[in-house]
Amino acid sequence: MKLAVIPGDGIGVEVTAEAIRVLDALVPGVEKTEYDLGARRYLRTGETLTDADVESLKSHDAILLGAIGDPRSVPAGVLERGMLLPLRFALDHHVNLRPSRLYPGSATPLKNPGEIDFVVVREGTEGLYTGNGGAIRVGTPQEIGTETSVNTRFGVERVVRDAFDRARARRGKLTLVHKTNVLVNAGGLWQRTVDEVAPEFADVEVDYCHIDAATIYMVTEPSRFDVIVTDNLFGDIITDLAAAVTGGIGTAASGNIDASGTNPSMFEPVHGSAPDIAGQGKADPTAAILSVALMLRHLGKAAEADRVEAAVEADLGSRGDGPVSTSEVGNRIVAALGG
Ligand code: NAI
Ligand code: MG
Repeated sequence: MKLAVIPGDGIGVEVTAEAIRVLDALVPGVEKTEYDLGARRYLRTGETLTDADVESLKSHDAILLGAIGDPRSVPAGVLERGMLLPLRFALDHHVNLRPSRLYPGSATPLKNPGEIDFVVVREGTEGLYTGNGGAIRVGTPQEIGTETSVNTRFGVERVVRDAFDRARARRGKLTLVHKTNVLVNAGGLWQRTVDEVAPEFADVEVDYCHIDAATIYMVTEPSRFDVIVTDNLFGDIITDLAAAVTGGIGTAASGNIDASGTNPSMFEPVHGSAPDIAGQGKADPTAAILSVALMLRHLGKAAEADRVEAAVEADLGSRGDGPVSTSEVGNRIVAALGG
């Protein structure tokens, strides 16, 4: 197995180190190549992501990313538009996968959360995030700004199929989240695609929620969700809400997946480089460690992924209210894995 590792900036470097320790304890002999990408590279060389970087990354089985960004020295958007989005498009990461699970011991702001265990399949290459828009008369009272949501039958169908597959392997329920009553063109395409694919998955129950109602249910009745499939923007918003109700940013993991398997998929914690706590050994590496579990499951190592998740669950359940240190969490998970 060939793994590309992009530790990135700030706590990205710290949490990735623990994630790699966990991987090494579980799957010895993974061949790793470290990539210098992110704010530090940009400040040194002015480069964000070169064609050579992309070609080289493509030769790996998977990519593990920490976090990139340094808001004090790199203007907002430079790395998102120069590195993260181009990588997603170059590697065709059309499935943005975000599991949400409330582990016993996690601090949820919900009073009666019930069981929370769902995954969001967010379309990652279309919708409002393609840069299909423009502006004229900028800065004048007559300014016009447009972004057009791009939805293709091909692009929608491949994530819908992926979501049905995941629902079948889980509790057998798929919820389409959209706003079909108002966004009739894009919404109609999504709804018809789900309706047309559904008969092939007769064992999967199909549900539908408008995005606004989905934000209510996610707080009042999150146990109703198993697999949610939705577009790029709705998915972006709803997954942050999902992270909030399941105990926050320290445990939220994600996968950027090319479901066709043509390009390596990339796994990363949802959080950023957290400059406010970087270098202090305070960052919780759990999200990065759960990203390793997602990666292992994607690569067909389900038993190993289960072991990581069980170790994380035990660690979260045994934490008191005291602070955790980055290395201490890594130590406990590695010890639980017998490493
Ligand atoms: P952030 O996620 O880095 O931090 C938000 C808050 O959560 C901070 O108070 C931070 O201390 C806390 N936090 C984050 N991760 C934590 C962890 N593992 N353990 C404990 N506390 C944690 O978001 P922010 O501050 O908006 O962004 C900082 C930088 O990260 C920016 O440059 C931003 O662009 C970048 N970023 C990069 C991402 C990526 O590489 N995919 C994703 C999100 C942000
Ligand atoms: Mg977001």
